[in-house]
Amino acid sequence: MLVKIKRGWELPESAVTPQSVYLNRRRFLQGAGSVAAGAMVAGGLPARARAYAPEDDPTADLYPVDRNTRYTVERPLTSYEDAATYNNFYEFGSHKQIWRAAQDLPIRPWTVTFDGLVEEERTVDIDTLIRAMPLEERVYRLRCVEAWSMVIPWSGFPMAELVNYARPLGSARYIRMQTFGADEFPEAPGLRQFWYPWPYIEGLTIEEATNELAFMVTGLYGAPVPRQNGAPLRLHTPWKYGFKSVKSIVRFTFTEERPVSFWEEIQGSEYGFWANVNPEVPHPRWSQATERVIGTDERIPTQLYNGYAEFVAGLYEGMEGERLFM
Ligand code: MTE
Repeated sequence: MLVKIKRGWELPESAVTPQSVYLNRRRFLQGAGSVAAGAMVAGGLPARARAYAPEDDPTADLYPVDRNTRYTVERPLTSYEDAATYNNFYEFGSHKQIWRAAQDLPIRPWTVTFDGLVEEERTVDIDTLIRAMPLEERVYRLRCVEAWSMVIPWSGFPMAELVNYARPLGSARYIRMQTFGADEFPEAPGLRQFWYPWPYIEGLTIEEATNELAFMVTGLYGAPVPRQNGAPLRLHTPWKYGFKSVKSIVRFTFTEERPVSFWEEIQGSEYGFWANVNPEVPHPRWSQATERVIGTDERIPTQLYNGYAEFVAGLYEGMEGERLFM
């Protein structure tokens, strides 16, 4: 059950534009006349658009960013409320209501290290990195391996830009991504669950990382990304199960060898490296044919590559021997 505690800066439901008709800045400004003046906060966003965004985020002035309409989803957006209060983030606990515990995550200062097979290893401040990147908004589906889904407006930049920035050597074939761990934030309650192989690791091939869909997320619903959704920097690969979309990243390591990811190490027979969405390949313990749409009573058919086959199917040609869908 979702327990919703009203915070001081949240306005009553009736005073704000419903998140389900969330508008980007241009459309918002056009419709601003119909929004009650009391619903505004500094920066011109409807108050609820910032309800879960970190208050202390020094990049807040960058949002909202223009939407890239090349990526559209035919379904309604999930409410901001649901996207920000129904989460998987095991560093804060192995249940869905981790959002309150995640508020303790210190997101500044925050650095990101690029190492391994790169021209020059370096560690950069997150604000320098974000401000160097071309930010845009993309509406993408999110399909969790647990057979639920959401549709979310993510802000961020193409991962290909990050790869360029890192300047990998020609010998690099994979990127290993790492979430904060005991070195950065030992107080995270989930890290005490010593049977998990912390820190959380994920990996992509360079070809996947430079595919146009691979997206580095810095914002959500036109505001900085909430801590519970992976502030200050996370991945979203919409054609793969959600566990590939690693949150709160501190390190990108370029390697020749395929990294072993967190879930692969725990249970490789159930959670593999590729983890591409396929309704015809069941999880060993449940079907992947349909998905529960969060915030509704609906179950809808799941699509191959989560509906993104036209963008990514070519990545896997000739790889039929691999367990591409698990
Ligand atoms: N990243 C880290 N570091 N820790 C996690 O537990 N959970 C993954 C992924 N990234 C996870 C993570 C899973 S299983 C999913 S479905 C998505 O985050 C959920 O993202 P959301 O909470 O923004 O919906």
